[in-house]
Amino acid sequence: MFDDFRSFIKELEKKGELKKIQGADCDLDIGGITELFAERRGPALLFDEIKGYSKGYRVSSNVVMTERRQKIAFGIPEDMPSVQVIKDWKDRLNQYQPVPPKFVETGPVMENTMTGDKVNISAFPSPKWHERDGGRYIGTGVVVITKDPDEDWVNSGTYRSMIQDEKTLSFFTNPGKHALIAREKYWAKGQDCPVVMCFGQDMLLFVTSTLPLPWGISELEATGYMKGKPIEVIRGPITGLPIPATAEIAVEGFSPPPSIDSRTEGPFAEWTGYYASGSRKEPVVHIKAIYHRNDPIIHGHVPVTFRVNGWYPIPLHTAVTLWNKLEAAKTPGIKGVYVHGPGNKIVAVISVKQQYLGHAKQVGVLASTLFSGGACTGRYVIVVDDDIDPADWEAVMWALTTRCDPETAIEIVTGYLSGPLDPMISPTKRQMGDYTTAKVIINACRPYHWIKEFPPVNMLSEESKKKILDKWPAIFG
Ligand SMILES: Cc1cc2nc3c(=O)[nH]c(=O)nc-3n(C[C@H](O)[C@H](O)[C@H](O)COP(=O)(O)O)c2cc1C
Repeated sequence: MFDDFRSFIKELEKKGELKKIQGADCDLDIGGITELFAERRGPALLFDEIKGYSKGYRVSSNVVMTERRQKIAFGIPEDMPSVQVIKDWKDRLNQYQPVPPKFVETGPVMENTMTGDKVNISAFPSPKWHERDGGRYIGTGVVVITKDPDEDWVNSGTYRSMIQDEKTLSFFTNPGKHALIAREKYWAKGQDCPVVMCFGQDMLLFVTSTLPLPWGISELEATGYMKGKPIEVIRGPITGLPIPATAEIAVEGFSPPPSIDSRTEGPFAEWTGYYASGSRKEPVVHIKAIYHRNDPIIHGHVPVTFRVNGWYPIPLHTAVTLWNKLEAAKTPGIKGVYVHGPGNKIVAVISVKQQYLGHAKQVGVLASTLFSGGACTGRYVIVVDDDIDPADWEAVMWALTTRCDPETAIEIVTGYLSGPLDPMISPTKRQMGDYTTAKVIINACRPYHWIKEFPPVNMLSEESKKKILDKWPAIFG
């Protein structure tokens, strides 16, 4: 496993999964090229000699846009089937034991320092990724580190951050996110909230920062657990917060209450495929110090066309938690959980071995309630039988279209929390601050009360498939 971003990039190059590009402009070139390569399911990209910036100051994008690269990034065996990956992470997180970070005196991130008047975040190539973006976003593959002022634990979350000026960044958090709760506690005490932000770091720290781990669980400790060894951090000289020692770029600063300073954030092309949250005033971070490695690489992880599941092809950030929650609720018969759709957040599919009348419906209702966190999350919940691989969208469509009677097996339940990024929140509801929408629960399982009479499947059985393959090895290669 890789301890820093650049060794992961090096590995991608070794495996023929990286394309280097020189001379691109931060203003739309990098974003446009990123989108076109993503659409083609192309390689990861490493931009250097970016117009107007020092050689060696780099941006890397599309790094986990394919299942193969996602598996390389997170140390997952390349031949492991997708739903098994979800199960594996679920099982590991179920055994979770905190592995606290190890404090070290210094590390590569301290190779260069800017403090006081020298602080200039614009020295780094921060793309304007999409045509209608309201500014340059240095923080997309970002981790934001904060500490709860009353409880002794450190949070790390991925929240987009935009450059406001040379010494100021804004960061956007949706309702309920842990950094938002912590910073509001500081503000209630009349204090500024200490913040560390990293732009390019250990990929496992990045993925844990995007997982909705429960309140009180530190993503820094969870990363240590997933790696099997503590991550190394340096005590921030200004905030006292831990700074990942191998980060490419890290900033330390303070977020004052919005009454002191807040600035226009957005629009930003969001993962739903729209600019739904527009622009509005958001809290900022006043940067007090910037630390960076020689020749730093910014990790760009941006939503692109809706054709590409831009966040992670394998939905570690959503399906793992949903499966865990269903298990914690002692739901019997769950065989697999997967999440499809934009951001791999919207269409949850649960495969279940039906054991009693009403079982599939119970699973659907439970999943719709347990699957929460952000815009559009779990808007559609589909329950399928255990012969359907929930990761296989074609199989799910087959079940949906042939085992579901729309008259009796589809329900619409209103009033679930969505979020500002949801394009279906009307202007009137936005004005009232009402971010709730309905969810659809679909039972696409064979009806339990006549399951024995349900027509048999007409495909080759696994046994017959094997016989044919064994008998005709030459024609199948
Ligand atoms: C690439 C990516 C970008 C994200 N950007 C944001 C964001 O800008 N704001 C936000 O609130 N959540 C964003 N999220 C979701 C959060 O990172 C995620 O919900 C995480 O669990 C938040 O951490 P927390 O639970 O500690 O608050 C993003 C997730 C990914 C994968």
